Amino acid sequence: MIQLITANKGDLFRVQNILEQTPTYHLNVGGRKAMPNAAELLFETVPQKKLPEDKLVLIVREGLDDVGIVDLIHGYPNLETAFLGFLAIIEGKQNSGIGKATYLEVEKLVKEVGLKKIRLSVVGTNPVDAFWEKMGFHFTGETKDYRNKKVHSISKLMEKELT
Ligand SMILES: CC(C)(COP(=O)(O)OP(=O)(O)OC[C@H]1O[C@@H](n2cnc3c(N)ncnc32)[C@H](O)[C@@H]1OP(=O)(O)O)[C@@H](O)C(=O)NCCC(=O)NCCS
Repeated sequence: MIQLITANKGDLFRVQNILEQTPTYHLNVGGRKAMPNAAELLFETVPQKKLPEDKLVLIVREGLDDVGIVDLIHGYPNLETAFLGFLAIIEGKQNSGIGKATYLEVEKLVKEVGLKKIRLSVVGTNPVDAFWEKMGFHFTGETKDYRNKKVHSISKLMEKELT
């Protein structure tokens, strides 16, 4: 049983601690472990024309333990869409259904606020396409160049229409 808790800047230490427990993700997309200011960047980074208050950071809890993190942008890139910036489960808890349970809670939240679609992007060097396909996402065909330190790849856009 998981719960999603809204995080704010007072939770920086907790969020950083979660991010540091996803080292393979950071290696895949940035070629190194989480930066010491990764949590700060997670709270502050928003797409152009969006405001920090359009971003929701959620801590995934299982009982008393922090086991994952989600970031969502409301109304991006258009008013009917939520952009799922990040969803990660700590490595010690992966492959036990928490990622799927977390995604289903996120989808419920997005529907509750009346949005119609969820969009996300997957970096080519991060092998999670099949997870998102299982959650009902499809590739839109849009790709962008992706460069992060030593990692040069593409990011691939995926979407799910909510019914
Ligand atoms: C991707 C991630 C969120 C999946 O979470 P998880 O808790 O390990 O996944 P679950 O145990 O809920 O798996 C749900 C289903 O997806 C499958 N699955 C999980 N990760 C997968 C992967 N990387 N590739 C293919 N299938 C995957 C599982 O086998 C399971 O299938 P089943 O329902 O048929 O048994 C997790 O691996 C993670 O946090 N990765 C690092 C961060 C990351 O890359 N996030 C995505 C950024 S776009």
